[in-house]
Amino acid sequence: MAMKGRSLVEPLDFSTDEMSELFDTAQRIIQSPQNYAEACKGKILATLFYEPSTRTRFSFEAAMLRLGGHVIGFSEPGSSSVSKGESIADTIRTVECYADIAVMRHPKEGSAIVAAGNTQMPVINAGDGGHHHPTQTLTDLLTIRLEKGGFDNLTVGFCGDLKFGRTVHSLIRALLRYKGVRIILVSPKELCVPDYVREDLINSGMEFCETRDLSEVMPELDVLYVTRVQRERFFNEEDYIRLKDSYIIDMAKIKSAKQELMILHPLPRVNEIAAEVDADPRAFYFKQAKNGMYVRMALIMALLGDGEV
Ligand code: NCD
Repeated sequence: MAMKGRSLVEPLDFSTDEMSELFDTAQRIIQSPQNYAEACKGKILATLFYEPSTRTRFSFEAAMLRLGGHVIGFSEPGSSSVSKGESIADTIRTVECYADIAVMRHPKEGSAIVAAGNTQMPVINAGDGGHHHPTQTLTDLLTIRLEKGGFDNLTVGFCGDLKFGRTVHSLIRALLRYKGVRIILVSPKELCVPDYVREDLINSGMEFCETRDLSEVMPELDVLYVTRVQRERFFNEEDYIRLKDSYIIDMAKIKSAKQELMILHPLPRVNEIAAEVDADPRAFYFKQAKNGMYVRMALIMALLGDGEV
């Protein structure tokens, strides 16, 4: 496989054909997981998490275990030599002595590219600050593909913290490559997308608009991607408190939505989606979390060059 030995740092590191290959593999895994139970036997995945995580770390660890491999790592930098002041470059060079592949989450933008540049083993970016989160994008796209069959001509709304939400930045970038996709950005002015994302949108020629008003665009959406206000990236708590509940999706708000709307959320949710929505067939966020494990299984196999079935 052409992905063998490579790293995944940004959402466009793989071509759309390579992404399709990953989704095909993930779908085969979903159908026959037993065929993959030994695909990465004897291999070791290192998880280096400098920031909190539930889904991303667990889904990577579960993915490797379900492929028959092993996992080492830390979930708090305080329990590793990072707390003694070790650089990312030195940490990754050390981890390379013990593991075959590494997954890293870090609060600083650009940290994954530094790690990938200092090792021969594949490095997967599991989130670098407010920048990118490409495996969440694989998760999001697989979930859409399983339901809609593809991405062309979809109208995708993003709602919430579009400024600091790295999952938003990565998914927008990935969607720009598909035909006829329309993007609708819904946020308070203070939380709109950063300039580099807006420039990507303008340069792509894709149809997009920005609004504060979710209700006016709700009936048009095929996908509604909701995000949490990213408290940890705010400079002051007052702004966070003022903005945190800008949108709360509840049954009344989705009344005007299409029956086939997909509501996605990378999770964790704080307040953005009322629990009453969970039972609605349009709520896909827990399925999305499960799909994340399957697509990460496909990714680990591809980067290690193992287990083609
Ligand atoms: C996201 C993240 O870490 O960026 N979570 C995740 O990986 N599923 C979203 C978030 O923390 O709000």
